[in-house]
Amino acid sequence: MALTAVPLSTQLLGWDAVELWVGNARAVAAFLSAGFGFHVTAYAGPETGCPDTASYVLEQGRIRFVVTAALVPDSPIAAHVREHGDGVRDVAFAVSDAAAAYERAVSHGAPGVEEPHEVKDAYGVLRLATIATYGETRHTFVDRSSYAGVYRPGFEGEKLPPEPVLGPPTGLDVIDHVVGNVEQGSLERWVDFYRSVLGFERLRHFDDSQISTEYSALMSTVVWDGSSIVLPLNEPAEGRRKSQIQEYLETYRGPGVQHIALRTENIVGAVSALRQRGVRFLEAPASYYEDARARLGHLDLPWDDVARLGILVDEEPDGWLLQVFTETLTDRPTLFLEIIQRGGAKGFGAGNFQALFQAFEREQARRGHL
Ligand code: FE2
Repeated sequence: MALTAVPLSTQLLGWDAVELWVGNARAVAAFLSAGFGFHVTAYAGPETGCPDTASYVLEQGRIRFVVTAALVPDSPIAAHVREHGDGVRDVAFAVSDAAAAYERAVSHGAPGVEEPHEVKDAYGVLRLATIATYGETRHTFVDRSSYAGVYRPGFEGEKLPPEPVLGPPTGLDVIDHVVGNVEQGSLERWVDFYRSVLGFERLRHFDDSQISTEYSALMSTVVWDGSSIVLPLNEPAEGRRKSQIQEYLETYRGPGVQHIALRTENIVGAVSALRQRGVRFLEAPASYYEDARARLGHLDLPWDDVARLGILVDEEPDGWLLQVFTETLTDRPTLFLEIIQRGGAKGFGAGNFQALFQAFEREQARRGHL
């Protein structure tokens, strides 16, 4: 078949959207907009011909989130929320040819969920196809090349809910990476899945000697499309106590998306604005900045702002990165966001893992899960 001659990565154009299935879409949309500075750009619900669901599209920079809730009890969305709590259902990719992407993925072993199909309205034709990945998570391939409407047919950009009181702009620009947690012992299988099904390459691997504290450990492999789509995958490793990944798997009741990293060109401005808007972050240990300045003081960074705002610093051979992690967004300790600025570094803050894990473990201990 000619399809296999075209590596899928050449059909992938980047992220399309991350869709969350939640209990109350209006409340989550308001939270993302008030806390993180997203703008609601489209809505679908009974008023637009979708009697069983309510969906809000939230955009900022090149980032698009969709939050969807069920309006009827027998909806698969309601069942998903009952099982997992609020969480990511679909990490959708923009592609140049949804049917070819789907055929390629399915012929390499991906479970097909929705065969290639078209949805139409006055604004054109949207071409879609969906495969399953870890847990109940999905990847939808989206070809927007013949569609000029807001998001999808069924959505409208009129009569949107009022914008909340505006805080300072947060300047979040693009999805940097989306991290999945998978069951212990399955990491290699999922790495192989992304390599064969999507034609991804292995970018990094961290084993439990690099990612561990006194109490807990994990292993992580990063796969990517060679360009913009970066998917780290974590599995729990044996430690003296329960790994944060194991806590996720138990409370989410299976594999799923752990965090979404949003990149900015100005993390000091972003975190300052987010804090003013009430977003709460994991706090670095008190000793962190003393250690960081001793280790990385040669970097030309606004150190006082970095320390005041609780931003973590790491250096790699190719440059530095600044990052910070929110507390979990959801009631269950599952999904959180990362804010990241890259000064050349392509990694994920390996030098911060120790500090970060200690912060996670303090939160786990407060929940009685360590
Ligand atoms: Fe990350």
